[in-house]
Amino acid sequence: MSLSSLAAIPPYVFYELDARRSRQRDAGKSLIDVGIGSPDGPIPDVVIEAMQRTAADRGLSGYPEFRAHPLFRQAVAGYLHTRFGVSIDPGTELLALAGSKEGIAELILSHTNPGDVVLIPEVYYPVYARATMLAGAQPVCVPFLPDGRLHLEAVASSDLARARVMIVNYPGNPTTATITLEDHAVLVDFAARHDLLLISDLAYSELSFDGYRVPSVLQVPGASRVAVEMHTCSKSFNMAGVRIAFVAGKREAIAQLDSYRSNIGYGVTTLAQMAGATAFTHHEAIVPPIVAEYRARRDALVHAMQAGGWDVQSPKATMYLWLPVPAGYDDWGWVDALIEGPGVVVTPGITFGEAGRGRFRVSLVQPAEVLTKAAAAITSMAAAATSS
Ligand SMILES: Cc1ncc(COP(=O)(O)O)c(C=O)c1O
Repeated sequence: MSLSSLAAIPPYVFYELDARRSRQRDAGKSLIDVGIGSPDGPIPDVVIEAMQRTAADRGLSGYPEFRAHPLFRQAVAGYLHTRFGVSIDPGTELLALAGSKEGIAELILSHTNPGDVVLIPEVYYPVYARATMLAGAQPVCVPFLPDGRLHLEAVASSDLARARVMIVNYPGNPTTATITLEDHAVLVDFAARHDLLLISDLAYSELSFDGYRVPSVLQVPGASRVAVEMHTCSKSFNMAGVRIAFVAGKREAIAQLDSYRSNIGYGVTTLAQMAGATAFTHHEAIVPPIVAEYRARRDALVHAMQAGGWDVQSPKATMYLWLPVPAGYDDWGWVDALIEGPGVVVTPGITFGEAGRGRFRVSLVQPAEVLTKAAAAITSMAAAATSS
């Protein structure tokens, strides 16, 4: 990374949103914050107990192992097997990470040279583009087809020739787009034909509704020859503040990431790894009530938006609604009007790239009754703009 590549990166939109939110709060305004996707639910009790035991264990006070603690490896391998039917070698095909955001950045930094191309979805989680720019490489957006799949044939052959990495995100933040195993197989085949490292960002693996079960790219036969997958405890287990995630898959990519990370750090805190190991071990008990709560919130929000006259479909996964900015507003104009008027904080679509312009994201990070109020505020604000 060079200082010039850091200087060339525009400020993070969440910083800007934070500043606007703080200005209103400092002025004494009470806000409904459905902007950032930070879960408001509690860390599961069984995880808290594991952290307490770990903190008191004198045998665990030294540096952690570089790749992962044996108990974390075992728990993750068990989770991947029971949840997806995927078998990995936890010694060589797995690495613990302090969150998938920095794991994705480190994967990009350890797999690209300046001038290389990284293929990312046209509406994307910001780190995909930002880490690519930090590496001096070039993010190239792959457009979506109307059904949310990637239009791979639209990638220019000149870009493809320079591409080293392709990142996909299903279920998608903010799009909520989902994927089938067959579509994952198409991505694996494309990556293999073009010699790309395929990174599947599976941040919302457990947050799905109405019978939809999120697949893993590693379920595709042969996927671990080209793909790695990022999993995190942040969303599925209400553990965003603990900072624990993992990457599993292609062993050469894991080894390269490990060698990059071992030059700059000491592995992930043992406390976080034990918390993660406990969450993955108990996933079948922990996840259902969390999903039930998000489903109730989604239903309340969707119904309230529909009652306000909006044609909103229920997303099958994630913790978001991805909505069009109403006529009469631009992105920031709409976000500002909602903050300064009824005091509702939403995320502008441009946070997720140029193709996100004209949309905004609402996160299900408030109880159902608060989301209902937010929806009423949003729909009446939009109605007032059309009638004026
Ligand atoms: C698609 C996606 N990937 C990664 C992350 C980051 O997760 P973590 O907390 O593991 O860094 C998020 C967080 O919002 C996300 O939406």
